[in-house]
Amino acid sequence: MFKKLSLSALAALALTAGAATAAGDDSGHKTHNVRFSFDGPFGKFDENQLQRGLKVYTEVCSACHGLRYVPIRTLADEGGPHMPEDEVRAYASQFEVYDDELDDFRTATPNDHFPESGLENAPDLSLMAKARAGFHGPYGTGINQFFKGIGGPEHIVAILTGYTGEERVQAGVTYYENTAFDGGWIAMAPPLSGEDVEFDDGHSNELHHEAEDVAAFLMWTAEPKLMARKHAGFVGVAFLILLSSLLYLTNKRLWKPVKDKAKGKA
Ligand code: HEC
Repeated sequence: MFKKLSLSALAALALTAGAATAAGDDSGHKTHNVRFSFDGPFGKFDENQLQRGLKVYTEVCSACHGLRYVPIRTLADEGGPHMPEDEVRAYASQFEVYDDELDDFRTATPNDHFPESGLENAPDLSLMAKARAGFHGPYGTGINQFFKGIGGPEHIVAILTGYTGEERVQAGVTYYENTAFDGGWIAMAPPLSGEDVEFDDGHSNELHHEAEDVAAFLMWTAEPKLMARKHAGFVGVAFLILLSSLLYLTNKRLWKPVKDKAKGKA
């Protein structure tokens, strides 16, 4: 019975996977998988990539968007961008924040958060990589995320590289055609065109590299403890395997006399 059940479960799984691959992404999105360093159960954020992404964010995206949930001091975190403390302090000092106690503006310190969005209709990006994580794949089922790892960072890369160059004006607002955006027209002008920033580590600043770096950075802002969580998950599974084996052996040992007796009788 159990064997039959698990066989049909396997078959169903294989079928869905096959269908997902065959149908591709027919929800109108052109979102492709990107091999990020943080993919998979042992994936890790790449410090250099996060620092490059921060640069793209600071020099380009922050003109309109904010990161109101992200404390600036976390830029020094291990497992994150891991920047030296003095660099983080210097980074913070470029912002002005309003201090309720002083009743005035002052220079930001690492204990403050990143500024909020400066442009009213530009959403805050702190959690965007998680907000757009799911439902890629045929009919928004999320199957592509499950089988191909396509999630929020991929969506961000696809948005940043998905402009066709077409524009139209509607009720005084300019919309730009974008193959990755729901509805096909987005109110964000193409923010990147390639060679928008110079990277200190000499990394290529072609459009798709810039897009991937800033997407990785936004994945970190949305899930700064991703690595710790994966690690905890791994330890948890290892512990469960150990516990199950011990319980199995204990069970066998406990029932051995009873079984031996039964055998003796037969
Ligand atoms: C000139 C202002 C401006 C700049 C610069 C800008 N954005 Fe936007 N962005 C917007 C606006 C406005 C929207 C809302 C668009 C809409 O809803 O049609 C938006 C929306 C988004 C979205 C949400 C898309 C979705 O699925 O809903 C993402 C992600 C995004 N921007 C990322 C970025 C990144 C990354 C950068 C920097 C490389 C950037 N933006 C630079 C104005 C800007």
